[in-house]
Amino acid sequence: MNSDITGQVETLIRRMTLAQKIGQMVQTERMAITPEEVKEWHIGSVLSGGGSCPGDNQLQEWVMMNDAYWAASVETDEGHLPIPIIYGVDAIHGNNNVTGATIFPHNIGLGAANDPDLLERVARVSAREILAAGVDWTFAPTLAVARNSQWGRTYESYSEDPAIVCAYAGRFVSGLQGDLGTDSVVSCVKHWVGDGGTTDGIDQGETTLSEDELERLHIAPYYPAIDAGALTVMVSFNSWNGDKCHGHKYLVNYVLKERMQFDGFVISDWDGIDYLSESYYDAVAMGVNAGIDMFMVSEHWQPFIKHLSHHVVSGTVPMERIDDAVRRILRVKYAFGLFDKPRPAERYWSNHTSFGSNEHREVAREAVRKSLVLLKNEDSILPLAKDRKILVAGKNADNTGHQCGGFSIAWQGTSGNEFVVGGTSIWEGIKQVAPHAELSADGSGKEADPHQHDVAIVVIGETPYAEGMGDIRTGEDVIVQAGSQINGLLKVLEPYGDTMILADLHPEDLEVIKNITSKGIPVITLLISGRPLVINRELDASSAFVAAWLPGSEGQGVADVLFGDEDFSGKLSFSWPKDPDDRNNVGDEGYDPLFPYGFGLAY
Ligand code: BGC
Repeated sequence: MNSDITGQVETLIRRMTLAQKIGQMVQTERMAITPEEVKEWHIGSVLSGGGSCPGDNQLQEWVMMNDAYWAASVETDEGHLPIPIIYGVDAIHGNNNVTGATIFPHNIGLGAANDPDLLERVARVSAREILAAGVDWTFAPTLAVARNSQWGRTYESYSEDPAIVCAYAGRFVSGLQGDLGTDSVVSCVKHWVGDGGTTDGIDQGETTLSEDELERLHIAPYYPAIDAGALTVMVSFNSWNGDKCHGHKYLVNYVLKERMQFDGFVISDWDGIDYLSESYYDAVAMGVNAGIDMFMVSEHWQPFIKHLSHHVVSGTVPMERIDDAVRRILRVKYAFGLFDKPRPAERYWSNHTSFGSNEHREVAREAVRKSLVLLKNEDSILPLAKDRKILVAGKNADNTGHQCGGFSIAWQGTSGNEFVVGGTSIWEGIKQVAPHAELSADGSGKEADPHQHDVAIVVIGETPYAEGMGDIRTGEDVIVQAGSQINGLLKVLEPYGDTMILADLHPEDLEVIKNITSKGIPVITLLISGRPLVINRELDASSAFVAAWLPGSEGQGVADVLFGDEDFSGKLSFSWPKDPDDRNNVGDEGYDPLFPYGFGLAY
């Protein structure tokens, strides 16, 4: 941080009251606060939780909302100092909350592309679409190294191997933050730390690892991110060897801030301190004293402020800790140039016509092409000639909601083609290049007829989910066990399923394939999923098989490759399991997957 900024921060902090300082340490959800309250309580930040949007979720409404919060935050009078608010969103695959945004493949697909240059371009385009909404800050990239695909957030992870995550971390941060000028947004790397390493892949669960292993697998990607200048870090819900990261002074204060010399600010996850203790009063002190600087508080920000003020007065939280937190927050605001930026409505990229433009969608389409992994191609059935008579079936063939997955318009994603505005479904992409393709009326493929169809493309797989609601939990005992290992409380959401076997999880998928192959028509299967699943039966029944991950809004990229305009280049960044007990990652003893890490065919 340069000395100019240090001087500015010191000058400002000297003028601040305790209430103004504590206010800067608070981030709350837009639904829980008005612009007037932002001013009255000196609030430092507001966020949109997944899917939370103003009005009808139009770009202009986002800009207006940000403008109103900003204006309130910079009002000046005797009781209020003008400190611009910083607004945060989960733009984790494009500015995915906003109607009409370009939605990129989720990280698992970008990992398969294994192309750091592409990744930086994805981040740059994302930054522009975030700025278009008048937003300053995104809670991305996720640097999780997902080690058990039962975890519902596996798709937010680039790879099970830290190598790809390390190669990507700095590039994504640079793509977002650039030179901290007009084209830049603030990046928040998350979740510190060990989020991808929990036992049984339980979201927010317990990561049991030696410190060396934690360092090698989960801390490693944070070095390049910090080197690239990442300004903020989000703490993880999980615990490490029984202790919650949100109360972990050693991990937050010592490892991250002292040893790794991270000089930006640390934010909690959503109500993340609430699970430290039954007593919220105690939890507030535990979180602040552990080294968290800003607190994401969904609703109860007033009790938070009251408790923290009380702790400072009674000495259970030292004033130096408050000053350290506020210094860090202000430093980021100055470094990002927030104090010099015009109001959101007048910023260069606000409401910009490039939002959701073809130019941006081209980058997403390229990312889709490069993320596809070809697992099987019997008798070189692919690429397909464009004049073939193709039946297109399966529940995910014409469903932009499903192909985008979770964290797309809504927190848990959407279904159908209504909400993702401006993209193409996989079917629409095929139809554009293959005039004799036909969409199965109800998706089942029952109308398959060898006189009318020479081949079928079946698009199957998962339906959208996010966070713990995507977990695969093989029994309730795994939760009981996890809870008993953790000091504090475990938040449990209803999981997605109880098996990794696709034929059990989604039996309707194999049925579609069989409806078609039983007529003697060969099937090319495309799997939409946030993780590798056990697919032995679907694979056997298919002539070709493609892992398409969660490709986002540009379904056209799939057709580009299926019809041979481009070759397959994606390689597995996750090992593909043979059976549900096969949880090995690349490098593990006894490693014997169905398809190894790095696998991927080409024409
Ligand atoms: C998630 C974070 C996210 C935050 C804000 C939490 O539930 O764990 O990844 O950034 O919500 O929406």
